[in-house]
Amino acid sequence: MNNKELLKLAEEARKNAYAPYSNFHVGAALLTKSGKVFTGCNVECASYGGTNCAERTAIFKAISEGEREFEKIAISSDNKGETYPCGICRQVILEFGRNIKVVVGESDGEYKEISIEELIPCGFTGADINK
Ligand code: THU
Repeated sequence: MNNKELLKLAEEARKNAYAPYSNFHVGAALLTKSGKVFTGCNVECASYGGTNCAERTAIFKAISEGEREFEKIAISSDNKGETYPCGICRQVILEFGRNIKVVVGESDGEYKEISIEELIPCGFTGADINK
């Protein structure tokens, strides 16, 4: 599974976004170390705080299916070019590994790959608890 293929799956997942309030559709595709892909979309809620981002939908789907080892996550939104994960999603991605790669861009165009550690430098993790 290469980055463009993963981005393509994120673009497909974006079509399922439930975003009646922002009208901003996001899709994500998470590649596990075992080679499986879990996709996700944003799911909004009239009580806005209940909204879940595409990235966390994909991660929570994977965790609930017993997968915890992740290689990379691709993200696609309605915007042209790159859409990087929000702060909450960065923290949740970091929870599962400093080396997870984030792929942003378009399957039929330019894309960038960056590690979650670069996106959340000096991040707080479980290793910081009870030091
Ligand atoms: N959103 C995501 O799904 N992922 C991001 O990384 C950024 C924001 C969603 C949340 C909300 O449904 C909409 O985009 C506008 O913030």
